[in-house]
Amino acid sequence: MSGSADGIKSMCVVGAGQMGIGIGLVAARVAGLRVQFVDSSAAQLDKGLAFLDKLLAKDVAKGRCTEEARSEVKARITTCSSIGEAAAADFVVEAVSENVDLKRRIFAELSAAQPPGTILATNTSSISITKIAAAARRPECVVGMHFMNPVPVMKLVEVIPGLQTAKATLDTTLALAQRMGKTTTMSQDVPGFIANRLLMPYINEALVALQEGIATREDIDATMKLGTNTPMGPLTLADFIGLDTCLAIMKVLHAELGDSKYRPAVLLQKYVDAGWLGVKSGRGIYEYP
Ligand code: CAA
Repeated sequence: MSGSADGIKSMCVVGAGQMGIGIGLVAARVAGLRVQFVDSSAAQLDKGLAFLDKLLAKDVAKGRCTEEARSEVKARITTCSSIGEAAAADFVVEAVSENVDLKRRIFAELSAAQPPGTILATNTSSISITKIAAAARRPECVVGMHFMNPVPVMKLVEVIPGLQTAKATLDTTLALAQRMGKTTTMSQDVPGFIANRLLMPYINEALVALQEGIATREDIDATMKLGTNTPMGPLTLADFIGLDTCLAIMKVLHAELGDSKYRPAVLLQKYVDAGWLGVKSGRGIYEYP
């Protein structure tokens, strides 16, 4: 990998949800970038920044960061409510919900608003980078940069070039992910890339097992957690990721790959229809009072 991210001084993060906040925090704290969060919802920006403050406070409490360093990180962070108002950035990461039309609209707006050399990365977990890039003025500057949740803790970033992505865009993105303290892998632009192509059918099958009454939710989780030495069983992990996100990814895999093995579990669709989305809604496969 020959690229350098030394010239990257600022990042714009579109979407101040859990992923966007985690990405911006790591960019500001580990890579030392100026970070601007963009979100059309003032309430979401407030909630996101409160979460970021909590994570920074914990770093101070645990001795991983001094008070002074915390203030410096905070001073590098700003917010705004629209892409058009965002300051010029060297690198943009889009982290809004998994909706292809929304993402394409955002990339069209971003490429009109940001300076020509800016790299536009999407944190999509399954949507075609090539399709998102086609909506941008300079598709060669668009790339997939898929962080794992929770971003400050997970070591991996999957980097995905679309058909149009320039080598310089790819190399800078790989270098920036490494500057953010992450290990990178590279995947072709195929539905689900590497992580979700393997993870989501596993989670979906756990829901099928629950639906078929093969075992209780607790026994399915305990079997996989203790039996394969993973931090969470698949049903707990599904609640953690969000059942709506899991369903959206399964739908992309099913539609794009056309194989019935990717059909979303009926129970997964039912939970989402009920608004039982996991930890974030207070109820999913488990209850979170
Ligand atoms: N944001 C930031 N940090 C978080 C966090 C969050 N949302 N949730 C937990 N953490 C941190 C905690 O602050 C804690 O840090 P310290 O050790 O410094 O105190 C650390 O993670 C461990 O947390 P806990 O002690 O509370 O709990 P734990 O030991 O059970 O770990 C976990 C929690 C890190 C989430 C762990 O259970 C885990 O690794 N689970 C699997 C996560 C996973 O598989 N992620 C990938 C999901 S798939 C994906 O992201 C791709 C996609 O497109 C859907």
